[in-house]
Amino acid sequence: MNALKRSLWCLCFLVGVMSTNVSVSDRDTEKLVIGKQGLLEPGVALFLPKDVTDYPATLALTKKPEIKLAFPEAWDIMPVFERRDGKTRVRVAVPPDTDFYGTGEVTGPLRRNGRSIKLWNTDNFGYADDDGRRLYQSHPWVLGVRKNGTAFGVLFDTTWRAELTTGDAIEFVSDGPPFPVIVIDDTGPQAVMKKLAHLIGTMPMPPRWALGYQQSRWSYFPDSEALRIADEFRKRRIPADVLWMDIDYMDGFRVFTFSPKHFPDPKRFNADLRARGFHNVWMIDPGVKSDPGYTVYDSGTAQDVWVKDAKGGNYQGEVWPGMTVFPDFTRPRTRQWWSGLYRDFMAQGIDGVWNDMNEPAVFNVPDHTMPVDNQHRGGGELAPGPHLQYHNVYGLLMVQATREGIMAANPDRRPFVLTRSNFLGGQRYAATWTGDNTSSWEHLKLSIPMSINLGLSGQPFSGPDVGGFGGEAEADLWAHWIAVGAFYPFSRGHAIKDGPRKEPWAFGPKVEKTARIAIERRYRLLPYLYTLFHEASLTGVPVMQPVFFADPRDLALRGEEQAFLLGSDLLIVPRWARKPKLPSGTWRKFSLVDGDASDPYQAELKLRGGAILPLGRIVQHTGEESLDPLTLLVNLDDKGVAEGQLYEDAGEGYGYQKGDYRLTTYRAEVRDGAAHVTIARGEGARARPKRDVVVQVLTDAGMFSAKGEETSGIVVPLSGAAKK
Ligand code: GLC
Repeated sequence: MNALKRSLWCLCFLVGVMSTNVSVSDRDTEKLVIGKQGLLEPGVALFLPKDVTDYPATLALTKKPEIKLAFPEAWDIMPVFERRDGKTRVRVAVPPDTDFYGTGEVTGPLRRNGRSIKLWNTDNFGYADDDGRRLYQSHPWVLGVRKNGTAFGVLFDTTWRAELTTGDAIEFVSDGPPFPVIVIDDTGPQAVMKKLAHLIGTMPMPPRWALGYQQSRWSYFPDSEALRIADEFRKRRIPADVLWMDIDYMDGFRVFTFSPKHFPDPKRFNADLRARGFHNVWMIDPGVKSDPGYTVYDSGTAQDVWVKDAKGGNYQGEVWPGMTVFPDFTRPRTRQWWSGLYRDFMAQGIDGVWNDMNEPAVFNVPDHTMPVDNQHRGGGELAPGPHLQYHNVYGLLMVQATREGIMAANPDRRPFVLTRSNFLGGQRYAATWTGDNTSSWEHLKLSIPMSINLGLSGQPFSGPDVGGFGGEAEADLWAHWIAVGAFYPFSRGHAIKDGPRKEPWAFGPKVEKTARIAIERRYRLLPYLYTLFHEASLTGVPVMQPVFFADPRDLALRGEEQAFLLGSDLLIVPRWARKPKLPSGTWRKFSLVDGDASDPYQAELKLRGGAILPLGRIVQHTGEESLDPLTLLVNLDDKGVAEGQLYEDAGEGYGYQKGDYRLTTYRAEVRDGAAHVTIARGEGARARPKRDVVVQVLTDAGMFSAKGEETSGIVVPLSGAAKK
């Protein structure tokens, strides 16, 4: 470049820079300096933009956080706040090569790099609206994993409608006023998830039956049809724990009522189900039919609980029963009223509640929800505000009230609530399923990264409709789906009304056999799963985990989204997985149920080297004793050692909080050509039953096993004939 050209180039460059400097952005953009920053605990920083002097009301966090420590000199991840076009924008620059995860319930790949999603809870049938960029839940949270395996997380504590984009930086654009940002920075993704749990809480321990396989359809009615389905499971020896009642049980879709024709005696029906070893879950939607004379409508109207339109009248929108009104769950008084409705309802012998349509969904209106200028009146900590502010937490506040109602009705039992809509932190109140998917290969494959990312957003208890809700499932697809579906934390088959049947026997004897084997595998694994749920309830580390959790420094694993982990010890590789990237180490394949190795659909199961997996017997439901004998499946590490834990409690109630539990750590060690298995540690006051333990040791030569009494220790000679 000659001198003239160079000076011309410099001039142009300068003009360019100057013109950007005086561009619209500067006139309309207000930089918001950080007014307050400090640490809540080591590795957790809070940033409040100027003018946000106190931490505002929070629904994501269990309580308003307090700065406890001074801001450190070295801190990597910094948010930059600004106001532009009436929106609050936060940009968080991240180190190059960061991999993103979390961001809640999302379509698309596990790795969230280069994605843009909308935080606006939407009734999104088939994930079709807006290309699936917004679904039923919002989680303003991103987990970042650096190249070296260390990790950070960014939490945007606002409920307003927003967009989240992940590129060279994380960009969060909210329709609301400035809000706090919390950044967690730690040694790895598991450590970040634990710190997230310090902020947003954890999933409370569910009743054990909720971990069993569950069967639903829109809808099983009348009651005799529902009992027939329960009987089919028992007759066909397919294990199951729960039967679900969708909207048709109601009287004209009026919530908290029962159709006199189809469910004339719900209490008796629930007892009949229980006699068959089934628990029950019943649907309750938020919309209350506008129907003077209907007690729920009348009492809600008398107490003035409904969401108001912009002019102050009761907003009405169309849902299943026709025109309905919607409880304003931002009001403590409304929540109390709603909780109270569960007293008589639960008294019918109801075990669990399914809250649906709580985005809230409204038919025949733009965007399938209520107008953004509808008014919520708030109360307590919550200020009054427009629907634009409270839409994303409508479901969370609803399930909070539902849970409280159930707990008041049945104080000695653990509640089980399933919700379609929710928000970051909502795992404190309800489990979740991923809404109206379809019976397609795309949605089967999508369901794995979706549930993993929900787990990486604080919600460990999730799963899709197994087999797909809408559309027709080909037998082959359904068989593949149940083969992995048995391993979602929440495992429930469901199907749309008027579509073909999708029970495990609906696809002929071959697929029925596949379903039986898959579900039997889940039941054998329940002691391990229950132990993982317990751990998640304490620490916030998800039950279903991405494969890269096995080694966050192995970059090859970062995008793996076909295979997944349950806890840290069990790897599930779907039969259809193509070239899955698996962790290094001695992960050994094993069989759990006769016939699983030769079945063409079953996922491959692999146990981590150094792990002991506690297994039960095949039972038909969780009410049957499965731990006599207890099986310990051992995969020794290179040093000939393995360890594993088993958590046990009553499976129901709160005795475990007062010490009525048993957490056992088993240890295996090779000495003199034999594996010696002993109890290394025990915790909790629950008495240890005298029971037999079968120890199975996986080796290159095959499997060696021995049986003995638990407390005396078991010796397994690693010689002689091994089972191949
Ligand atoms: C919604 C739910 C679905 C349910 C149906 C009828 O579409 O997502 O699971 O079956 O409503 O209640």
